Amino acid sequence: MMTLVLGLLSISGLCAVLALLLEAAYAVFADYGPCRITINEGAKEFTVKGGGRLLGTLMDQGVFIPSACGGRGSCGLCKVTVLQGGGPILPTETPYMNDEELRRGTRLSCQVRLRGDVQLQIPEAFFLIKEFRTQVVGLKPLTPSIKEVHLKLIEPQEIVFKPGQFIQFQVPEYEGSSEPVYRAYSIASPASLKTEIKLVITRVERGIATTYIHDFLKEGDEVLINGPYGDFYLRHSNRPMVMIGTGSGLAPLLSILFQMADEHIDRPCTLYFGVRSRQDLFYQEEIHQLMGMLPRLRYVPVLSQPLAEDHWDGETGYVTDAVARGVSDGSQLEAYLCGNPLMINAAVKLLTERGVSEDRIFFDKFG
Ligand SMILES: Cc1cc2nc3c(=O)[nH]c(=O)nc-3n(C[C@H](O)[C@H](O)[C@H](O)COP(=O)(O)OP(=O)(O)OC[C@H]3O[C@@H](n4cnc5c(N)ncnc54)[C@H](O)[C@@H]3O)c2cc1C
Ligand code: FES
Repeated sequence: MMTLVLGLLSISGLCAVLALLLEAAYAVFADYGPCRITINEGAKEFTVKGGGRLLGTLMDQGVFIPSACGGRGSCGLCKVTVLQGGGPILPTETPYMNDEELRRGTRLSCQVRLRGDVQLQIPEAFFLIKEFRTQVVGLKPLTPSIKEVHLKLIEPQEIVFKPGQFIQFQVPEYEGSSEPVYRAYSIASPASLKTEIKLVITRVERGIATTYIHDFLKEGDEVLINGPYGDFYLRHSNRPMVMIGTGSGLAPLLSILFQMADEHIDRPCTLYFGVRSRQDLFYQEEIHQLMGMLPRLRYVPVLSQPLAEDHWDGETGYVTDAVARGVSDGSQLEAYLCGNPLMINAAVKLLTERGVSEDRIFFDKFG
């Protein structure tokens, strides 16, 4: 068994090294000359040096395609329709495409290498996505593993987003990464605050972006972000709501609750917030302020591993255990889930079993 595991690890390590070498060889040796990119029948056109990936090349030209995985081919968000050029679709792309998309020529722009002229069709809304220069005006530990990053917008000075949406944060080249990388972070602050945003970022062991943000980022630093992205936002209805968040997954839920308070949207809503122990709970004051403004907001913190010193007499177990105890008939509910993918899979399964219609369950998986 051990030999098998070691064998698999060495094969995946070898594949990673080969992929890096291939990428480096493309950068150094491949010369595809100038390539013409035509978007939406000439609405935008530019000539660029060939050889790069379409997603990054478009970004360099100020055209931002939604992406949540930093171009690693694992989020499936960076779809564009390639009307001409682009080469054959790759096996890394097909799992994200349905038959109609395959027929139309939909591609994952992070997987398409620019080897010649291409003609693209993208939704007009993508032209509204912008890059923002921002400055770090605050860095605050919220828990032992979560930091709040407070960014003030420099240029453009205001961001318009739907509460629940996310931005991409550019991590510059640093000792942990030989090139800039992008990662998705949900906006935790209210959309009414247009000149600044707050992000809530969990440290991931050996993570490229989170190591940079937790150990290297300083107040006063400039940071490039782009966005906003995503379709995780409040739907207009009068249905009672259930919100389920784990860890930093609280961020977009909080932004949605701020919106409900600002716009006097008084819907019954239960917020389940799952963390390990009491020290991992954060934004408690903000949640209690929101409860003062939203009389029908109920808050259920759930600890999966309470410590003896926590003296906890609230809900325990997985957050979904508490939801199972709290929701018996979900036929009228609308659900908003955010955080760890395993929790979201379990919550979707539970909620559909309790009668919540799948088209009324909205989620963002942080992974
Ligand atoms: C739409 C969206 C919104 C997001 N919003 C937030 C947010 O508001 N706050 C936040 O903290 N994160 C958020 N994330 C996750 C974030 O984008 C990064 O994936 C995360 O910060 C890890 O980045 P990294 O570069 O540090 O790790 P990487 O260098 O990308 O990964 C290092 C290793 O850790 C593993 N890994 C990656 N992420 C996790 C994880 N979460 N837990 C355990 N292992 C992991 C990887 O598989 C890899 O093996 C969001 C993700 C999405 C898709
Ligand atoms: S950017 Fe995530 S799949 Fe392309």
